[in-house]
Amino acid sequence: MQTLTITKPDDFHLHLRDGVVLANIVNHTAAQFARAIVMPNLKPPVVNTEMALAYRDRILQCVDKKYNFEPLMTLYLTDNTSTEVIMEAAESNMIKALKYYPAGATTNSDQGVTDISKTYSTLEAMMEKGLPLLVHGEVTDNDVDVFDRESVFIDRVLAPLVRNFPDLKIVFEHITTRAAVDFVTQSSNNIAATITPQHMLLNRNDLFKGGLQPHHYCLPVLKAEADRLAVLEAATSGNSKFFLGTDSAPHARNTKETSCGCAGIYSAYAAIEMYVEAFDAADKLDKLEAFSSHYGADYYGLPRNQEMITLIKQDQTIPAILPLGDNELVPFLAGGTCSWQLKN
Ligand code: DOR
Ligand code: ZN
Repeated sequence: MQTLTITKPDDFHLHLRDGVVLANIVNHTAAQFARAIVMPNLKPPVVNTEMALAYRDRILQCVDKKYNFEPLMTLYLTDNTSTEVIMEAAESNMIKALKYYPAGATTNSDQGVTDISKTYSTLEAMMEKGLPLLVHGEVTDNDVDVFDRESVFIDRVLAPLVRNFPDLKIVFEHITTRAAVDFVTQSSNNIAATITPQHMLLNRNDLFKGGLQPHHYCLPVLKAEADRLAVLEAATSGNSKFFLGTDSAPHARNTKETSCGCAGIYSAYAAIEMYVEAFDAADKLDKLEAFSSHYGADYYGLPRNQEMITLIKQDQTIPAILPLGDNELVPFLAGGTCSWQLKN
């Protein structure tokens, strides 16, 4: 039987939520990953170090003692994030980045940034302290086609930002297009990107296959096949600017299967297996370990993990439904098979 042993991976983009949802899901991630960059888009958002440290404690309380999982905390950037907040975050050593949501771009982003130029003094302080900016790269303008939101964001927001702050470390999160791959590839080493399993495995046809598929809806939305291939190629290229970030985001089934469904795909249940599946299909298994376990840690200046994990090429069925408080959660590829399995 084929096996693959790699350094234990980290998830550099994860939504864990809070309360009972957090308790229901966090051990899926802890079973696979050593660390995760935890997104701050709670209600209310995590806007300062005190809130982040309290959130970190709540996360750790829910982690099964058998796992050695470390949540890496982030703050939510607003128009009003002060330089004091940045100084405190940097001094704490516990805050690894700030997340920039353009206001209205996605789930719980209403308190996000209305105009990036309003945050310039904050970005200056981040640059000084070496705190990276994690970017949800989509414009929200109604005149822009939803499939072009990422590429227009590069032209209107990201390229000028990079020109104005050449020394600011930026992670272009969950990239979905050839334009994003090219932008990151051609930028300085201060610009990196995360890639999700869904944007490697699916294209926008999968949103409509046999009828509307709400469980394939996330933001940025799935793109055309040529874009998927560009993202897949970037992830499997061995270029250290591209690394693993699932963007796994739990939404209760009834909030997705409804007249106005939420954006988010829950991949944490079998995330590393899904990446292996994508790398295997591309015949690039030799490039998986660096993508999942080295490049992200290197970019963030973290030590690489010492522990190893082993994956076995053996079919597993993804459950149709997982528990989520009083609700249900439909995981990514629910009811389908994944041809790899993590060995416990
Ligand atoms: O699909 C998404 N869901 N994209 C995001 O940017 C946020 C996430 C969420 O928090 O549910
Ligand atoms: Zn996200």
